Amino acid sequence: MKINQSNIKKSKKFLDKNDCIGIPTETVYGLAGNAYSNKAVSKIFKLKKRPKNNPLIVHYANLKMLKRDCEINRNFIKLFKKFCPGPITFVLKLKKNSKISKYVSNNKDTLAVRFPKHVIVRKLLNFLDYPLAAPSANISNNISPVTKKDVEDEFGKKIKFILDGGRSSIGLESTIVSLVNKPKILRLGGIEVKKINNVLKKSLKLNLKNKKLNSPGQNKLHYSPGIPIKLNVKKPNQHDAYILIKKRGISNNSYYYLSKNKNLKEAAKNLYKVLRMIKNKNYTSISVEKIPNKGIGEAINDRLLKASKFKS
Ligand code: TXA
Ligand code: MG
Repeated sequence: MKINQSNIKKSKKFLDKNDCIGIPTETVYGLAGNAYSNKAVSKIFKLKKRPKNNPLIVHYANLKMLKRDCEINRNFIKLFKKFCPGPITFVLKLKKNSKISKYVSNNKDTLAVRFPKHVIVRKLLNFLDYPLAAPSANISNNISPVTKKDVEDEFGKKIKFILDGGRSSIGLESTIVSLVNKPKILRLGGIEVKKINNVLKKSLKLNLKNKKLNSPGQNKLHYSPGIPIKLNVKKPNQHDAYILIKKRGISNNSYYYLSKNKNLKEAAKNLYKVLRMIKNKNYTSISVEKIPNKGIGEAINDRLLKASKFKS
């Protein structure tokens, strides 16, 4: 994607004034603000209607900047070398003298950090002298945005600028791995757990429902299009929107395909797009065909399961 330098400069201008802007990443779009500024970080929480005890991810340009704020360790170095920049978030110990706003982590002594791969946001991060706190750019519990238009749908005129980076190539959030004590996975996402296990040469525990951490796994309404979702459905009700993993010969307006040929990466990329499309029509419920639970399919099923907890 071509980089428009004037948009990068414009983004910096807003961010320097402690305003929040929409930013593209390879996973989903983020709602970004200066992570060192209490004012900017408070604005993010307010705009998203996010509970103050649900911490944000901070996005860094490079290791040098990260080291000002966090303690790093050997597991981090191994994973960083293999996967960064990319769709993986690390929870690390925050340094006592770090400049990170105390609102980012709700006064906790840990910080979730990420090095996004998207060329446009990398360009922006390299242009700033502070890291960016950025949760997904949706109102809390809504579907995460994967285009500039989706961010507009979420926030309308409440945010002044969205940096356009085209459609997010992965389409699902980053995998979160905590490296504070014994390494563990806190959220499934863009990098398969198997690949992380291979690098660390052990099988990490999945801690997807940690009550104390208030991670996305706890929130039952997360990723919800606001109508009931039924999973593993072979025959949908007549008026349901029906999400299928593979394109079929049958032509039906209420059938939505995640991929042409059961490709799970393609399905992940299309998931939020399809859910948002269905949400904007007048369906009262959604049925989903069984999605293979392997590779990134595990993250797809994780999101669908959470969305299916919706009760009207
Ligand atoms: O792909 C992504 O990670 C996207 C893009 C924009 O980078 N961001 C994203 O942020 O998904 P968000 O805020 O929607 O989800 C991050 C989750 C939070 O819900 C929170 O529970 C968890 O990360 N988290 C943040 N800081 C944490 C910490 N110190 N310890 C444990 N979990 C943390
Ligand atoms: Mg989110």
